[in-house]
Amino acid sequence: MISLSVNGQVHEIDVEPDKPLLWVLREDLNVVGPKFGCGVSACGACTVHVERSAVRSCSFAVADAVGKTVVTIEGLSQDGQLHAVQRAWIENQVPQCGYCQPGFIMATVALLRENPKPSDTDIDDALSNICRCGTYSAIRRAVHRAAAILGGAP
Ligand code: FES
Ligand code: FES
Repeated sequence: MISLSVNGQVHEIDVEPDKPLLWVLREDLNVVGPKFGCGVSACGACTVHVERSAVRSCSFAVADAVGKTVVTIEGLSQDGQLHAVQRAWIENQVPQCGYCQPGFIMATVALLRENPKPSDTDIDDALSNICRCGTYSAIRRAVHRAAAILGGAP
């Protein structure tokens, strides 16, 4: 049995320790915000936070998350309030099909923790996620808006 903290809830689950975190979330815990895109750490659709840092959960063994805090897009809002990054996304109408967006949002929250006022180049460097709908310029606008909303304190 493995004990896993996800979005503030501790779960006891019977899984192989090398099972990717993405599949534990989706298959065993029904947490389906993190998406499967490539399975080889290339697209970022599966991005979640482990100990407040962005990780690509398709390539992250669940055993490596034991004793740590896992947060997915489902756990980003607090007290019924959307996170500033989610609000900036809505303001800028970023999503097209939406499939990649949970990964971009989680990567952005982690970026703004490290760099509260990123430049376009910083954003392009940090967000190596892939969007097949081509929402990159809207994402850049939304990241700047989120940085402004947060006022340097994500
Ligand atoms: S599904 Fe994990 S990076 Fe693509
Ligand atoms: S919004 Fe469709 S893949 Fe990104």
